[in-house]
Amino acid sequence: MVGRNKVTIVGAGNVGATAAHWIASKELADVVLVDIVEGVPQGKALDLSQAAPIDGFDVKVIGANSYEETSNSDVVIITAGQPRKPGMSRDDLLKVNAEIVGGVTDQVVKYSPNCFIIVVSNPLDAMTQLAWRRSGFPKNRVMGMAGVLDSARMRHFIAQELNVSVENVTAFVLGGHGDTMVPLPRYSTVAGIPVTELIPKERLDEIVKRTANGGAEIVNLLKTGSAYYAPSLAAVEMTEAILKDKKKILPCAVYLEGEYGINGLFVGVPVKLGKNGVEQIIEISLTNEERAALHKSAAAVQELVNILGI
Ligand code: NAI
Ligand code: 2OP
Repeated sequence: MVGRNKVTIVGAGNVGATAAHWIASKELADVVLVDIVEGVPQGKALDLSQAAPIDGFDVKVIGANSYEETSNSDVVIITAGQPRKPGMSRDDLLKVNAEIVGGVTDQVVKYSPNCFIIVVSNPLDAMTQLAWRRSGFPKNRVMGMAGVLDSARMRHFIAQELNVSVENVTAFVLGGHGDTMVPLPRYSTVAGIPVTELIPKERLDEIVKRTANGGAEIVNLLKTGSAYYAPSLAAVEMTEAILKDKKKILPCAVYLEGEYGINGLFVGVPVKLGKNGVEQIIEISLTNEERAALHKSAAAVQELVNILGI
């Protein structure tokens, strides 16, 4: 291929701007940062561009308040959204973010009809379902980021527990991105050794619980926002897998049509990501207990999808 890839990031807040940073420093693609706040995407893009001579990356980063500059993007990462404000219920937030993600998707599709969409905005699984319906795209081109982040959190906790390199640790988390997510110790390994043979059950249970509360733990510490370093890099890992056709197996929120006994819903499961986006959904065998937990998590996503009528 001649010429660089192009990635648009909608929402130039914490996750969006940090994703731009990772993409630039990996020299993965030119980046267009879009936000509704005037000056912010332009200012962050200019600042990041001025880091280029120091780090030595030769990609273009520009900021915009409209979508003309985004045209023909290869991948669009949607991080636009509002945080919950005092007095707002979860359902209120659901509706506000649905308005935002719906409107953003219309613009994305208009200017980049052939792109892949990676949704980050919360509530993740419902927002991904909305973006997919609204886009009219085939299901291989729309996916949500959550599992890569949730499993990275679990990998960190396991590595810390055993005092080993994070590079030795793999972990799987299935289900929706919420407190019903399903971390799977049985499929988590350290240098190929099942973690269930290395960590006692009570400690593993604590790691599973801490993983499921991973987002809230950081919100409680930060007080004014939520996590963004790991979330942004997780979205960039998915982007890289597509742009470089890596055929990488990653847990992503994808549209299920009967896999795992779930139908017509976006939920997190392992998939193969390559140049065609979601190239394969990988079904692993689950115990009855794991399957029940996954179905409970899917039911929580279904509830939100029903409220939105999508
Ligand atoms: P933030 O508040 O720092 O940034 C959000 C940005 O979206 C703001 O700059 C805002 O101006 C912009 N925005 C709002 N409406 C817009 C519109 N119509 N068009 C373009 N931009 C618009 O929030 P942060 O920390 O970057 O988080 C972004 C979203 O990602 C939130 O919904 C958050 O809950 C979610 N999130 C999801 C994770 C996951 O695992 N899926 C992990 C971390 C965050
Ligand atoms: C997280 O898990 C808030 O969804 C966000 O950090």
